[in-house]
Amino acid sequence: MSETTGPETTGSHLLAGKRLLITGILTPNSIAYHVAEQAQLAGAQVIATAYGRVSLVKRVCGRLPRPVPVIELDVTDKEQLARLPEIVSVHADGLDGVVHCVAYGPPACFDEDFAATPWPDVARSLEVSAYSLASLTHACRDLLGPGASIVGLDFDGQRAWEGYNWMGVSKAALESVSRYLATQFGPRGIRVNLVASGPLRTVAATSIPGFDTAYWDKGAPMGWDDKDVAAVARTCCAVLSDWLPVTTGSVVWADGGYHIAGS
Ligand SMILES: NC(=O)c1ccc[n+]([C@@H]2O[C@H](COP(=O)([O-])OP(=O)(O)OC[C@H]3O[C@@H](n4cnc5c(N)ncnc54)[C@H](O)[C@@H]3O)[C@@H](O)[C@H]2O)c1
Repeated sequence: MSETTGPETTGSHLLAGKRLLITGILTPNSIAYHVAEQAQLAGAQVIATAYGRVSLVKRVCGRLPRPVPVIELDVTDKEQLARLPEIVSVHADGLDGVVHCVAYGPPACFDEDFAATPWPDVARSLEVSAYSLASLTHACRDLLGPGASIVGLDFDGQRAWEGYNWMGVSKAALESVSRYLATQFGPRGIRVNLVASGPLRTVAATSIPGFDTAYWDKGAPMGWDDKDVAAVARTCCAVLSDWLPVTTGSVVWADGGYHIAGS
């Protein structure tokens, strides 16, 4: 269990009865793992998906407070997406929330020579990291009803971060995708938002060349602990809850305030 969790801080009824589909668990450091943990502590029922490596993800999920079913899902696989509602229905008769914790860019996307990156690499990054928020939402559409909340994980897509390159472009695209989804699904009472996290020591982040967080800790008004994944996970749980009922198409910042810092 994470250091910041405890009976007094978990908001134990925040997500009572909520049925959540959580993508992106790979290790116990994954943001998705912490969302699953915090959500369970807040009373939610969690269904997890795994991108290949199902037995590894099942083992990782075995550390969660309560058992969770694990469904194989590559967000770029049309057949797996088409089968998803039927498989989810075995475990729950609907969903109150979907968490998109998925990103990938081929190494060329982080190359110093930004402008030379070949389109197939860029296309892969955009498909996995941005378009998939739409394809996942589309796949789950019949399981979602009024009050449901879709949450994706963002890293400030408005700036050009050194070394982040085409993943930065993918995050800018993700922000736009979330706004269009919010527009499409708003009339059905379904919210779509992103949580913009500061840098955390996960597999996805530490594989980015030059990953460093000291400047964030220095620049954020509240400072920044790159190991406190639970803090970001709890923000996701807040957005999944009924307590932001008219917030949609928004980026909710969980970055220690870095984005408002002057210089
Ligand atoms: N760690 C950070 O500093 C940070 C900051 C802001 C936002 N984020 C975002 O948080 C999300 C989760 O990343 P993380 O940091 O927990 O790292 P992570 O490596 O633990 O998670 C990334 C996940 O993406 C999954 N994935 C990759 N390709 C996939 C595919 N085709 N289909 C389905 N799943 C696929 C991986 O299996 C993995 O579970 C990502 O969107 C990432 O960009 C991370």
